[in-house]
Amino acid sequence: MRNERHARPHGRPSSRPPGTATLVLSGAARAVAAVLEEGQSADAALAAQVAEAMEALQEVQQQGGPRGAIQAVTLGTLRWYLRLAPAVLPLLARPGAQTDVRLRALLACAVHQIEYSSHAQATTVAAAVDAARLLGLERAAGLVNAVLRRYLRERVALLASADRDLATRHAHPAWLVEALRAAWPAELEQLLAANNAHPPLALRVDLSRTRSVDYLQELAARGLAGEAVSGVPTAVTLSHPVPVAELPGFAEGRVSVQDPSAQLAALWLAPLPGERVLDACAAPGGKAGALLEIAAGPIALTAVDNDAARLERVGENLKRLGREAKLLQADLCGPPDWWDGVPFDAILLDAPCSATGVIRRHPDIKLLRRAADIAGFAARQLLLLRGCWPLLRPGGRLLYATCSVLPAENAAVVRAFLAATPEATVAPVPEPLAGLPLHPCGPGWQLLPGAAGDGFYYACLHKEGEAR
Ligand SMILES: C[S@@+](CC[C@H](N)C(=O)[O-])C[C@H]1O[C@@H](n2cnc3c(N)ncnc32)[C@H](O)[C@@H]1O
Repeated sequence: MRNERHARPHGRPSSRPPGTATLVLSGAARAVAAVLEEGQSADAALAAQVAEAMEALQEVQQQGGPRGAIQAVTLGTLRWYLRLAPAVLPLLARPGAQTDVRLRALLACAVHQIEYSSHAQATTVAAAVDAARLLGLERAAGLVNAVLRRYLRERVALLASADRDLATRHAHPAWLVEALRAAWPAELEQLLAANNAHPPLALRVDLSRTRSVDYLQELAARGLAGEAVSGVPTAVTLSHPVPVAELPGFAEGRVSVQDPSAQLAALWLAPLPGERVLDACAAPGGKAGALLEIAAGPIALTAVDNDAARLERVGENLKRLGREAKLLQADLCGPPDWWDGVPFDAILLDAPCSATGVIRRHPDIKLLRRAADIAGFAARQLLLLRGCWPLLRPGGRLLYATCSVLPAENAAVVRAFLAATPEATVAPVPEPLAGLPLHPCGPGWQLLPGAAGDGFYYACLHKEGEAR
């Protein structure tokens, strides 16, 4: 809700053009506010704010671009919001929803810069005051100045007080900390820290076109340091992220951006040449590409998703890879009226989930998810499993995958499915993947976010019958 005292039409009264730091803070504050107030994903909020800031930048004919900086400040602020907000917002007379969400977001962004960047503190305060004006909060400019100056004087005590609580210290919602504690008591603090770490840029190399050792040399020739990922033969990580356009072979589809844990889906299902494979819940197509690349010969891949816009991205992604699949829009919970009746040899079901395993890449998840969402995800996951199972031939295999670390969406779902499906059994971890840090978790295996990759759950179910 807007605080009427602070709300002003968008615009800036000052004739002085805003500096880059001001544009960055105002763009990031708008994006953070959109996540907080409208429940937008950080990706969607950033796309709008970056475009607006770039326009503003052109208007004032400045050099350089704040695109990367807005993204960094937005994601950093979202990552630490639940620690920074309790430290700075109590300095407002009305810290809660009565204060304009853009003002709250701006203060959090500024405090993020103070705590997690090397910018001079005075520069950040001055830029935040200008950013308030740019956000149409002219009347709050003095307040921003006063709050940030007081924060600078009292920050050690304010943060120490916030940090007394484990959830606040790690900038997680309390419900999630409790759910993680129940599931992973021994790993809890490590897990919370991993969720706040900056993951490396991870690539999947199409081994049918380039050996990863050769790709690492290509990277080195361009001055890019990378390394192979132990146990995931397709994966390479880069020490410093670069725009994909600068990656050798990206345009021609020799490499794709994909976390090593996500790359395991194709290695685990291991499609064989000639097999009919269903990629259930396929969009935007990361794992579809991996399935097509990993098979030693052509496979007949059908990629199904119920979201038409996301399904288009599957087509675009496969085009870059020079690969083909049959793309179908359908609800996999419902009757399979899209299906030709010929059973699949293998199915990957990459079910929609809380995405609690990929918080380090999408820190907005900590602010967007609610405890009550989890039961809804679990119910849909079970429906999807039940919807896909009849499409599998006897002797075939279905790999259930999520990027959740919550057993309610993983072990509990698979257990419930197995209890009602006597012809389903759980297959062991394939030999080539046995060395990975997989935690047994009910009838499947959990990878926790950390050095090896994102948090993923996998359970491979075999359908009783003749193996081919
Ligand atoms: C985790 S994402 C899949 C990611 C994808 N496998 C990849 O690697 O790029 C889950 C997908 O499930 C889709 N989905 C959700 N409910 C569905 C349903 N009932 N039927 C089909 N697709 C569904 C969503 O649109 C979303 O694209």
